[in-house]
Amino acid sequence: MSCKIGILGLGTVGTGVAKILLDPEGRHPVLREIEIKSVGVRSLSTKRDVDLPASYYTNNLESIVNDPDIEIIVELIGGLEPARSLILQAIANGKHVVTANKAVLARYGAEIFTAAKANGVYVMLEASVGGGIPIIQALKQALGANRIAAVTGIINGTTNYILSRMHQEGGAFEDILANAQALGYAEADPTADVDGYDAADKIAILASLAFGDRIKLDEIYREGIRNVTSIDIHWATELGFAIKLLGIARHAVVDGESGLDIRVHPTLIPITHPLASINGVTNAVTVAGDPIGEVVFSGPGAGSGATASAVVADIINVVAALKSGTGKINQLMGCSHQHYAKVHSVDSNKTQFYVRLIARDRPGVIGEIGMRFGKHLVNLESIIQKNSHGEFAEVVVVTKQVVERNFQTAIADIKNLDAIESIATVLRIL
Ligand code: HSE
Repeated sequence: MSCKIGILGLGTVGTGVAKILLDPEGRHPVLREIEIKSVGVRSLSTKRDVDLPASYYTNNLESIVNDPDIEIIVELIGGLEPARSLILQAIANGKHVVTANKAVLARYGAEIFTAAKANGVYVMLEASVGGGIPIIQALKQALGANRIAAVTGIINGTTNYILSRMHQEGGAFEDILANAQALGYAEADPTADVDGYDAADKIAILASLAFGDRIKLDEIYREGIRNVTSIDIHWATELGFAIKLLGIARHAVVDGESGLDIRVHPTLIPITHPLASINGVTNAVTVAGDPIGEVVFSGPGAGSGATASAVVADIINVVAALKSGTGKINQLMGCSHQHYAKVHSVDSNKTQFYVRLIARDRPGVIGEIGMRFGKHLVNLESIIQKNSHGEFAEVVVVTKQVVERNFQTAIADIKNLDAIESIATVLRIL
């Protein structure tokens, strides 16, 4: 008996999924037991790049989630609504759900997984983070023996593409963004990518799986890449760093309290770090745990085939689990989180900083800057005058690991010094 599925959305990923399912030769044998029954689309007149009978298509998406013949709903429409309502309706109808929708999962995960548990169904999300990289299953299953210390990733391809080109070409952010949009590497509205919202959704999902607790999205510190300049790329390179937009989730103890430090921001990473050489639209995630040490996953983070690979793997897993016939949910595939994680505020965490200041070029300025950092307990690793332009000098400071609150107080103090024209850039170092 085949397992009937309904696909909601036949865009890039949906088309990739349908193509794999229609061409099972040489792939996992379970694929032959999966039958597409319906495909929900917005427009019935759009020409499709996949060979499905016209009768499969409907623009009534609710009819798919309410169809008693369908066991698995594959949600690939993206966005918050109607995706969330359709997922919840499918769950209420006892259907398993496979989704790539990080935005819905990061915001409504608690509601969705509580409903899934109550209804004894799976909600599978491999495609929601890292496209084709099997990071979700790794965190749920393969790394289950580990006490996770940190998950760190390049989990947004668009920003990695822009930053890689800024490194390679020395160009300005705005120019490369405009060119990336013209080439189709960045959306017309690039906000979700360049301002870090997409990466925040993804690190929320990874953190909840790695650390076993729910995450409130608004507790994640988020900063995008708009303020990264070609000058900073230049100085970072000279200092031995690459600048990447990272999602970081790590265990941290602050004032004796165990919790998580979760953030998304442009980050200087040592050129020898495995993430430093991940360029273009490629994604990569490192997981540090006890006893494994560190593992690195990398691969295509988006695109039709890569994301479809993750979606179809989830469908295969659900079908195989259903075939085992126990009628019970496989604990390793479900979600058992009930509590929210303690997420420390960003200013209480310890971080290393890179700062570029524009100062007046006169005696004693570097001493004044150093003194103000010292006054606020900010220990410095280096302070270098990089360039003089007329009466101004560019000064680059690298701190040691310091409490962020102390650093921000020092910066506010330094900004008011008569000798300081501006604090041009503040970036964090991994
Ligand atoms: N917009 C995402 C990115 C791809 O640039 O990585 C989908 O998750």
